[in-house]
Order: sequence, then structure tokens, then C-alpha cells
Amino acid sequence: GAPVKADISKLEVGQQMIVEWRGQPVWVVRRSKETVADLSKLNDQLADPVSAVEQQPEYAQNEYRSINPEFAVLLGICTHLGCSPTYRPEVAPEDLGENWLGGFLCPCHGSRFDLAGRVYKGVPAPTNLVVPPHRFLSDAVIEVG
Ligand code: FES
Repeated sequence: GAPVKADISKLEVGQQMIVEWRGQPVWVVRRSKETVADLSKLNDQLADPVSAVEQQPEYAQNEYRSINPEFAVLLGICTHLGCSPTYRPEVAPEDLGENWLGGFLCPCHGSRFDLAGRVYKGVPAPTNLVVPPHRFLSDAVIEVG
């Protein structure tokens, strides 16, 4: 499939946008500075906090799993059986508990991922979400693929 472009110029902090690439959803989430700073607080709850398993290109092999910490780019497909998780950015919602700092919840079997797509321990999904190949064409445009 051909690469697709995402215009991120109107994406506000905390918002998610979805672009379709190869028939699959790719998410772009604009993370706040607080969100980025909070990522390391979750490490002991995560199955692969340093992304040792190569679910991301080399340029996203870092603590943010991204090129620019402000923008997460993730394939929106659960690594368990392929459902598409739901964006749940709110902190400590009633149904997810006080330790939830925002992330993605899979509706099929309850796998949880943080705002870098890293999987929590003790859920069915075996690995972090995939970071698809992507690049910034400018400050306002990401190309995926
Ligand atoms: Fe997501 Fe099973 S497909 S938890």
C-alpha cells in the first residue's frame, strides 16, 4: 500500500486522530508535557517498558516510542487478536482505577496499553503496540508507510 499523510496541524494536546493505512487504523496522539513526563512512572507496571521487543522502527526505539515525544504514532491494532483498542486519555477514571494515567483499552479481552502503546503486565496482549514506519514531512504533516 502507498504511504498516507496525516495533517497534524489542528491536532490539539490530548487529542487522537485516526488515519487509514493498508486498511488498518493508525493513531496519532498529541501528548502533553505532563503525559510524556509520566511515561516513566509506569515502567514497573508494564511488560516491556523499554521496548526490547522490536515492535517499532529504530528511530522510535526510545522511552517515548516516537520521533518527537509530543506525537505518538501507533498502529491501532491489539497485539492479542487484532481488535482495535479504545482511546482512554483520562486519568484515574472510575472503571480503570486510580493508577490509570491514560492509554488504550482493548474492548475484546481487556488488554491495556499506555500512551506510548506499551502493554501492561497481566493482560492477554503479549507485546507493545506496533509503531508503523513514519516520518515528518514538515511540522504539520506526518507520512505513514
Ligand atoms: Fe485485544 Fe484480545 S484482542 S485483548
